Amino acid sequence: MGDQAVPAGHTPERLHKGVIPSMLRLQKALPDRYTTAHPDELSEWIGAAKAELGSRVYILGHHYQRDEVMRWADARGDSFGLSRTAAEQSEAEFVVFCGVHFMAESADILTGPHQQVILPDLNAGCSMADMADIDSVEEAWDSLAAVTDIDRVVPVTYMNSAASLKAFVGAHGGVVCTSSNARAVLTWALGADGSGHSRGDQVLFFPDQHLGRNTGFELGYGAEDMAVWNPRLDQGGLDDHTLKSSTLLLWKGHCSVHQRFTPAHVEAFRSEHPGGIVVAHPECSHEVVEVADLVGSTDFIIRAVAEAPPGSVIGVGTEIHLVKRLDDETPDKTVVSLDPLVCPCSTMFRVDAAHLAWVLEGLVAGEVRNRITVDEDTATWARVALERMLATV
Ligand code: 13P
Ligand code: SF4
Repeated sequence: MGDQAVPAGHTPERLHKGVIPSMLRLQKALPDRYTTAHPDELSEWIGAAKAELGSRVYILGHHYQRDEVMRWADARGDSFGLSRTAAEQSEAEFVVFCGVHFMAESADILTGPHQQVILPDLNAGCSMADMADIDSVEEAWDSLAAVTDIDRVVPVTYMNSAASLKAFVGAHGGVVCTSSNARAVLTWALGADGSGHSRGDQVLFFPDQHLGRNTGFELGYGAEDMAVWNPRLDQGGLDDHTLKSSTLLLWKGHCSVHQRFTPAHVEAFRSEHPGGIVVAHPECSHEVVEVADLVGSTDFIIRAVAEAPPGSVIGVGTEIHLVKRLDDETPDKTVVSLDPLVCPCSTMFRVDAAHLAWVLEGLVAGEVRNRITVDEDTATWARVALERMLATV
């Protein structure tokens, strides 16, 4: 927790186990120097601190970050790309992760012991990640074990989850996935590649039901092969038969940003832009994915825009900062959000130039602010699950 005060009763262990929702991480208020600074001053301070730190610091920026932050990133990427970059980034003493908490945790797990990972604002959590905590996942596992052959169930967690969940899947023969490799990971888990080496017959997929469902359909499974596990209900709200017969058990979680998109948005876009191209992120509902032209992770969306013919109008179902940046950086194409009512990710948005300046100037002064650490026990098993993912794709 770096130099942050943890409220009474919220021990780091409880926070770490995911018992306390991440939004209670409580970033302390920044000194006035940062909150009252003009944007030009902040840029000057960030530039100066970055220059002084040189190769000691490496800044990673997720595609949903604001432009005022992204311009300083040494590497931009989606969750998968950034986890790979973090793993390869063995020189920098400090990795400043401009993204959200679970991403910084993964970076801490994948970087070396001589490196420290920093999240500029501790309140940059993820509401989807908070929808599955370790206690509920362990309860689900025990309930499943009472009904199914648990040795044939492979737990798969989306990258958007706490380190404790990644450790859980690592310790139970499972794996992490991201939106760019979910298909390869489920194929690995279920042996759907015809190799005959299936690791299991069923997958418990958390926390995003949409990514799980969309990937399941993509692999040729039908609605009858999937069931939603509701962690608030006994036995997930499912009867024994459904539990035994479902290939994919999908945790009832979602991304509040991507779940906003509807087929009506797609319809409205198409009637306004006949011939337009619709690209959606797989965290969108299946109803949206079904009517989209292209579906993929944030990196995929960037490639899809780059490959579209000049003059194209592209309606995108993902976070607004990426959509706006694509429109700005692709002057020969028009890129718009499918949802006319802007939908930023409020937690990604917490990381701003002021917080970036604050952590970088702290480093220059010899003070590590907002370090994110994962305890060694958790990290060991989470690393197993992350490395399994990196080896699978
Ligand atoms: P990707 O970066 O894997 O596309 O995931 C999107 C997201 O919602 C990250 O929080
Ligand atoms: Fe979480 Fe959705 Fe924001 Fe990504 S966009 S950090 S999944 S709430």
